[in-house]
This record gives sequence, C-alpha cells and structure tokens, in this order.
Amino acid sequence: PLVSMKEMLEDANKNRYGVGQFNLNNLEYAQAILQAAEEEQSPVILGVSEGAGKYMGGFKVVVSMVKALMEEYGTTVPVAIHLDHGSSFEACAKAIHAGFTSVMIDASHDPFEENVALTSKVVELAHFHGVSVEAELGTVGGTEDGVTGGIIYADANECKELVERTGVDCLAPALGSVHGPYQGEPNLGFKEMEEINTVAGVPLVLHGGTGIPSEDIKKALSFGTSKINVNTENQMAQTEAVRKVLKEKPELYDPRKYLGPGRDAIKEIVIGKMREFSSSNKA
Ligand code: G3H
Ligand code: ZN
Repeated sequence: PLVSMKEMLEDANKNRYGVGQFNLNNLEYAQAILQAAEEEQSPVILGVSEGAGKYMGGFKVVVSMVKALMEEYGTTVPVAIHLDHGSSFEACAKAIHAGFTSVMIDASHDPFEENVALTSKVVELAHFHGVSVEAELGTVGGTEDGVTGGIIYADANECKELVERTGVDCLAPALGSVHGPYQGEPNLGFKEMEEINTVAGVPLVLHGGTGIPSEDIKKALSFGTSKINVNTENQMAQTEAVRKVLKEKPELYDPRKYLGPGRDAIKEIVIGKMREFSSSNKA
C-alpha cells in the first residue's frame, strides 16, 4: 500500500535497518524499484525531485503511474512517494495535493530561522494530510538537479532545536556525504551522527548514498540513520547497460530492446541495496 514514511522509518530506527529511497527518472525506474521491493519484501521510498517530476510530466502523472503499477503488480509492501529536495512551500503543497505521501523541504541553504519557519509551514500542511516531512541542515556536497555546493556539517544544537520547533518526522543532517560520485573515499562524521541521533530523537537520513562503502553504511545504520538515498548508482548502471546493448548492436532501434536491459540493471542495484541496508523481509 501507499503510506507515509513515518511508520516505516520508526520501525527501521527501532530495529537498526535502513529504508532505501530510490529516485525515479521515468517509467522503467518505477517498474524496477517496485519489482525489487516486492521480491525482497522490503519497504521502499520512491524519491521524486522537482526536475524529475517535471520530466515525467508533473507530480500527478507520477502518482498515477505509481498507483497503476502497484495495482498491476499487486504490491503488498509499504511504498512511499516522496518529494526529494523540495525547494519551496509551493512545491511541497503541489506534491501533497497530487497525492505524494511524503515530502522533503530543503531549506538548508537558508539561515536557520528561515529554515525553521518554512519547515514548520510545510509540516502544518503535510501532517493535516497525513503526509510525512523530512528537513535538512548543513550542506550535502556535489551536484543535484543543477545545484552545486561544498560540504558543511550540520550543527547538533540546531538539529535538536529544528526538530523540536517544527515537528518533522525525520532529519537529514549533512555530515560529509556528496551527491553524485565521491572523489576518493567518503569521510562521514559518525561521531556527529551519533550525537545528533541522541539529541534530535528522530530517524536520520543519509543523502548521497551512491559510492558509500558497506562498512560505513553499517555504521550509519547503527548510529540512527534509517533512510538512505540512492540515485546516481542506478543512473550509472542503467546507462552502462543501455550503452553496452547499443554498442553491440548498432542496427537496433526498438527502445524496448535497450531500455529493458537498462531496467534490469536498475532492479539488480536496488535488490543489492535492500540487502545491504537490511530492509529485505522487513515489509
Ligand atoms: O536526494 C537524493 C540522493 O541524495 C541521491 O544521492 O545520487 O549520490 O546517490 P546520489
Ligand atoms: Zn539528496
């Protein structure tokens, strides 16, 4: 069923596993991720950025597509449709009214007081509709949807205060992770993560899940991270599979013949992540 992230993340937090957020880019992503989740009997979060939503034809198209696939597949595992890095109240409201079950308001680039004010406003509307909310503090490195930034660690006191004052359901404290591939090994602030988990009292979210070694994922899970976002790794696997087919068969023109293998590649990555995050058989 379509649900908010609240219960999934509370269960994950209590039992120290992670629910994967896998971003949608088109139909094949939705198919691959929903199939993987059902096969693994894993809860799952479908992440939709504003840019990807626009690409797919708008938030309503995304919700209709996901609902229809879930009906067709007879999906039994919990699924959330989540706005990824929502940039404004308007974007969050649009997603909520289109039927998203969860939103992220990313006001991490604003001054703290403005972040609190905007996040509170989103929480008020979202909770009225039974929709969960994720907020962010600090800066995730790298580039996503054209926005590039350096790494700034989240401050533990601000995390505590933001959660208390806004009532968000989960929090993404930037602690050294990066969107897109890492230059060298990631250097995550686990000490800070543990502290923030203790003072904030809500499940934590790790952005930039692509390229984080298994040992670091395990540590993050043990320090209260309950949601891990993965996008680039699926994109790379899909593109590599498509490129391989097109290279081997230059005469090919039926899109199903290359997008199909691309879809299989996404599904394989997602199944691997669900096992790595220990969310398999937790539905
Ligand atoms: O919000 C989306 C994620 O943080 C994706 O990060 O593309 O590095 O896996 P990634
Ligand atoms: Zn992110």
